[in-house]
Amino acid sequence: MSSTIGVDIGGTKIAFGVVTPDGEVLARTRRETTPSRPDEIVGAVADGIAELRSSHDVVAVGVAAAGYIDSGRSMVMFAPNLAWRDNPIKAQVEEHVDVPVVIENDANAAAWGEFQYGAARDFDDMLMLTVGTGLGGGLVINRRLVRGAHGVAAEFGHARAVPDGHRCGCGNRGCWEQYVSGTALTREAREMAESGSPLANGILARADGKVKRITGPLVTAAAQDGDPIAVELLADQGRQLGTAVASFVALLDPGVVVIGGGVSEAGDLLIGPARAAYAHELTGRGFRPSADIVLAELGNEAGLVGAADLARSE
Ligand code: BGC
Ligand code: NA
Ligand code: ZN
Repeated sequence: MSSTIGVDIGGTKIAFGVVTPDGEVLARTRRETTPSRPDEIVGAVADGIAELRSSHDVVAVGVAAAGYIDSGRSMVMFAPNLAWRDNPIKAQVEEHVDVPVVIENDANAAAWGEFQYGAARDFDDMLMLTVGTGLGGGLVINRRLVRGAHGVAAEFGHARAVPDGHRCGCGNRGCWEQYVSGTALTREAREMAESGSPLANGILARADGKVKRITGPLVTAAAQDGDPIAVELLADQGRQLGTAVASFVALLDPGVVVIGGGVSEAGDLLIGPARAAYAHELTGRGFRPSADIVLAELGNEAGLVGAADLARSE
């Protein structure tokens, strides 16, 4: 059975898995990353692959990376949340690995994973948004991944939500990523705590009173325990997500919209408000069929599963 390795390089961590042709993850490992050190990232990628290959035979490696991949799929041209600029990542990984290496944008890979094995497997057209450090986008139309003329299609996170809004790592202001992402959730929670509002006491207590220790996963854990402000912060993210989805659906009319990424681990706390906002804001609502918003079935592994499958099929 020809298994492949999928690697997903995100803003804070690298996830690895050995994946079968059926999309089953046989073994996993992970490495932490320092987003400012691209050289360290390649070392960590090589290391994780070597660890998995010591116990599993694989025929190829697929690497999903959180940035703009060139149309030749050999390079990360740019990444809003990592220090990569024209980084020849395919060649760098191939220096350490004697099987073919395929590169893909992380959210494209996640979309492909959900399309092949997950929540979108019964559809021909699907839109994926990954709510993590950044807001990633992936698009499958007519059963094909859409990469665009230059490799950088489906950057939904950098469509503009708010004129003159928050500054974004891409150079613009007001991108959706600044309002729907782990980064946005963390910023909002910290701002709430910094304002001295007693409403943030529950969140702050979990962070040992230190604003800098407040993270997205901490807010999600607080919300899951019923902290009302944490619930509200996630609902804000969800509402904004639903508004974004309404715009994207107006443009693309996908069969289904799949939501993944770390923040989506909040489940209904995020998706419930997203569905409500979407139902409120979709153009022509009530007079047209439209896609449902669903959670990624592969969860946060969609990217590595998709990357592994892309590596096998190329
Ligand atoms: C990047 C995308 C990436 C997404 C998720 C965005 O900021 O522009 O290329 O897919 O974050 O990591
Ligand atoms: Na993408
Ligand atoms: Zn941006």
